[in-house]
Amino acid sequence: MLVLGIETSCDETSAALVTSEGDVVSEVVHSQIASFIPYGGVVPEIAARDHAVMLPGVITETLRRAGVDLSAVDAIAVTHRPGLMGALLVGLMTAKGLAWATGKPLVGVDHLVGHLLAIFLQRPGDARPKPDYPFVALLVSGGHTALYRVEGPSTSSMRELGATRDDAAGEAFDKVAKLLGLGYPGGPVINRLAREGVAERSGFTFKPTLGGLEMSFSGLKSAMARHIEERNIEPCADATAPTDVHRDLAAAFQKSIVRILVQKTLLAASQQDLGRIVLGGGVAANTELSAELRAQASKRGIDVFVPPLASCTDNAAMIAFAGALALDEDPLGRADTLTLAPNTRSVLLSVTRKGGGPRTSRGAS
Ligand code: KG4
Ligand code: ZN
Repeated sequence: MLVLGIETSCDETSAALVTSEGDVVSEVVHSQIASFIPYGGVVPEIAARDHAVMLPGVITETLRRAGVDLSAVDAIAVTHRPGLMGALLVGLMTAKGLAWATGKPLVGVDHLVGHLLAIFLQRPGDARPKPDYPFVALLVSGGHTALYRVEGPSTSSMRELGATRDDAAGEAFDKVAKLLGLGYPGGPVINRLAREGVAERSGFTFKPTLGGLEMSFSGLKSAMARHIEERNIEPCADATAPTDVHRDLAAAFQKSIVRILVQKTLLAASQQDLGRIVLGGGVAANTELSAELRAQASKRGIDVFVPPLASCTDNAAMIAFAGALALDEDPLGRADTLTLAPNTRSVLLSVTRKGGGPRTSRGAS
């Protein structure tokens, strides 16, 4: 089966052709990052407009690269949740139009389910081993930071174990980079500068307070903001010319956030008694995170699986693949109708209560 995937939930416009075995036949990802540099973050209205302008060309190019037309496609999979409403709508309406015009089945995919299955994508030249089920997954991106138990490819076999109560880890990278005047997106630049900095020299320390598998990153960002203010540290005048103070703070921030992510992920693996950990999402590209997690996990006999960068960041291949698996499982029952609606929330139940206030064991989010 060959599935056309469409992804427009946030700031990447992407289309891909993927087989039900996970082979990525072709893929195009148009990143909107350049549009958001002046704002230091995604502006939903601009994202939606950009998707509307770019998506038709992205789909055409995806088909052209594979040397096929829509008649070769067996189904159309599209991210319909969670994400920015306007952005989701562009992909969803396009997918519905294509499904209606071609008579091909339409399948709505939850973006988080796509991320959780992205480790199984087979990209040309990639020889990384794939995990068996079940595994613990840390999904860590600009919009999401959560731990899951994944027992199989269906949504009913994925369970959230804990998540951030406030900012996502990638959001914290972006906000701290903004405080330091390092530009957008913050993750890659902090990752790079941290290699040249000395965390201890910065004088910045942070003690996380949350136990269990819940996380919080807005406190970390505020602690960094206070540190910068108290010491009268100026943001970089020119993002390409940071000083040692900026490098040391980048190292200290990264060390703090990586420590939290690694500690929580290992705790999840131990609570679930699982020997496999899978990373996903844009922050999985962080070299200190993967190195530290691998080092600590190997001491406990736990295997760590990190997908290639193209599978970590938002992409339509993971959506096509998740759609193919859903259709494989239940070819007649799983196809959606043209009434498929967008939704800003994931289908995966959250056990983490967002924001402040008293905790319950199973808060809504
Ligand atoms: O998954 P993604 O491409 O988009 C969504 O947020 O859904 O993730 C983007 C996020 C941004 O916040 C970016 O700063 C962060 O991933 N990121 C990184 C690195 N590369 C990207 N964070 C830390 N280290 C990196 N090397
Ligand atoms: Zn994502």
